[in-house]
Amino acid sequence: MIILGIETSCDETAASIVSSDRKIRSNIVYSQIEQHAPFGGVVPEIAARAHMDAIDWVIRQAIESANTAFDQLDGVAATCGPGLIGGVLVGAMAGKGIAAALNLPFVAANHLEAHALTARLTNNVEFPYLLLLVSGGHTQFIQVRGLAEYELIGSTMDDALGEAFDKTAKMLGLGFPGGPAVEKMAKKGLIGRFMLPRPLRGRSGADFSFSGLKTAVRHQIEKFSPGTISEKDKADLCAEFQQATVDVIRDRTVNAIEIFREKQGTGGSLVVAGGVAANASIRKALEETALDQGLPFIAPPAGLCTDNGAMIAWLGIERLRMGLTDGLDFKPRPRWPLSELSR
Ligand code: KG4
Ligand code: ZN
Repeated sequence: MIILGIETSCDETAASIVSSDRKIRSNIVYSQIEQHAPFGGVVPEIAARAHMDAIDWVIRQAIESANTAFDQLDGVAATCGPGLIGGVLVGAMAGKGIAAALNLPFVAANHLEAHALTARLTNNVEFPYLLLLVSGGHTQFIQVRGLAEYELIGSTMDDALGEAFDKTAKMLGLGFPGGPAVEKMAKKGLIGRFMLPRPLRGRSGADFSFSGLKTAVRHQIEKFSPGTISEKDKADLCAEFQQATVDVIRDRTVNAIEIFREKQGTGGSLVVAGGVAANASIRKALEETALDQGLPFIAPPAGLCTDNGAMIAWLGIERLRMGLTDGLDFKPRPRWPLSELSR
C-alpha cells in the first residue's frame, strides 16, 4: 500500500509518500520560518497564503522524488485538524481533490494522532505505550492502547512546553522558532546562576504548568536595565530554563509511568513525539527516567518529531489497514482533541 500524506496545520507545508512496509519513499517539508520570523511567531493569515503558494509544488515533489505517480497511490491522508484553520483547509482540500480525481480512499488525519503513531513508523513500536506529546500547541501524557484508543493521563494546565520555549526565545530576542535557539544558547550557559521555579514538581498526578516558569524568566530579564543583557546572561538564563523543564519532565514522567502501570499492568514503553522531542536534553532526561523505571524508551528521529507529511501518510496506512476512511464531506476543524476520535 502506498499513501500520500499532506500536512499544513501550522507553518510547514509538507507532503510525503510512505508505503505499508514502513518505508518513507519521500518526505518534503517546506518551512515557512522565514516568512514568520519578522513577527516572532506564526501569523495565521501569512501561513494560509504560504500554504496556498507551496502546496502544489510540495505534493508534486513528494510524488516525483518517491519515483512514483499519482496513479500508483492507494490512498490519500491529509491533516484535517487541529491547527490553524486557514492552513488546514489548504491541505485538506488538496488531499480531497486528489482523492476525488483518482477515486481513492481519503483519511481525514488528526495531527495529534499522527504525532502519536510516528514511533510505530520509525521504530515499529507495539501497543500499548505511554506517549508524551510535546509540541508548540500540546503537552500531554497519553495512554495509547491501540489505534484510536487514547486516554489522557495528564496535560498542561496553561502553556504548552514548545510555547514556553518560543516565548522565552522571543523575550531574549533569540528569534523564531524558539526551541532550537534556546537549546543552542543553553549549551553555552551555566545552570544555577539564575533561579527559576520547577512548577508542580513533587505534586501528585502528571499535569504540567509552564506559565509561571515563563513569567519567572520575564522577571529575571526585567532585572537588567534595557539593552544591558549580554550574550552570557542570555546563555545562562537559557541553560537554567531548559534545566527547569528537564527537572519538571523527569518528575512528571515518573508519576505518569506509575499511572500508566496502574491502568495497564506490566509491559509497554515510553514514547515521545512532537517538536520539543527534538531537544537533546529533554530526550536524555526521558531516556534516563524510562531506564530507571524499567521501561523501554523510544524517540523517533528529530526530523520526524517536528511536523512532517510522513507521519500523516503513516496514520493513513494505519487507518486504511483497519478499513477506517472518511468521506470527502469531512469538515476540517481548528480544535480536535484525541478523545474525540473514534474507530
Ligand atoms: O510539533 P511541532 O513541529 O509543531 C506543533 O504541532 O506545534 O512543534 C513545534 C514546537 C515549537 O514550539 C518549537 O519551538 C519546538 O517544537 N521545538 C523545540 C525544539 N525544536 C522544536 N523545543 C525545544 N528544543 C528544540 N530543539
Ligand atoms: Zn505538530
